[in-house]
Amino acid sequence: MEIPERLELALRDGTPAIARPLVPEDRPALVEAYRRLSPEARFNRFWTHTGEVVGDKMLDRVLDQDPATHVTWTVLDPSREFSPLGGASWWRGGHDPSEVEISFLVLDDEQGRGIGTLLLAIMWLTAFRAGAESMVGYVLVENRHAANWLCACGASGEWDGYKLIYRWNLHHLDALPETRPAAELAMWLATLAPKILP
Ligand SMILES: CC(C)(COP(=O)(O)OP(=O)(O)OC[C@H]1O[C@@H](n2cnc3c(N)ncnc32)[C@H](O)[C@@H]1OP(=O)(O)O)[C@@H](O)C(=O)NCCC(=O)NCCS
Repeated sequence: MEIPERLELALRDGTPAIARPLVPEDRPALVEAYRRLSPEARFNRFWTHTGEVVGDKMLDRVLDQDPATHVTWTVLDPSREFSPLGGASWWRGGHDPSEVEISFLVLDDEQGRGIGTLLLAIMWLTAFRAGAESMVGYVLVENRHAANWLCACGASGEWDGYKLIYRWNLHHLDALPETRPAAELAMWLATLAPKILP
């Protein structure tokens, strides 16, 4: 079974939303989404002060997808003129093919609506489908919001002296803690697994 081209969903507050992989035609929307981000959100995602203009190399890197090595999904509100709410990617490096690295970005005004947790479930399932066994995310120490969120979603955390490292074993769903983000993650995993897994 192929992964559907788009998933029609409802966010926590009932807002109808679409989740789908990015396509090359999304390039102008990505440029605009990047421009709209706060400097803080950009820094937390890219770890450098980049300004409002996203470079072509970064756009190429995000848009160049391969279901086995690099996947990027976006969540959209189709009722809006500018529809992107957020996105997430995973990459599989050469050194350990059993693990993928994930990253997330939700537009500032849309944070706290459950979009990050929905994207986390999609990353989990698409990575699992691609044969990954674990998933890792790196977070700057000062990014307490992301750190608390990933911890609440059941990742085991460590600090390497520079960044926080959050890792999940994709086979261990039973290890999720009793927190609201983890309950929401489990709900999305159960809802989306029949649509995303073969
Ligand atoms: C980190 C990030 C992806 C989370 O996405 P999100 O859509 O806000 O996540 P959710 O709405 O699913 O929130 C999950 C939890 O985060 C916490 N949270 C959400 N918004 C918050 C806010 N503004 N302040 C503090 N905590 C917040 C809550 O604990 C929430 O749990 P709840 O469901 O009990 O309220 C988003 O904040 C973001 O894009 N930040 C900038 C980039 C970044 O830091 N990326 C992470 C490194 S790759």
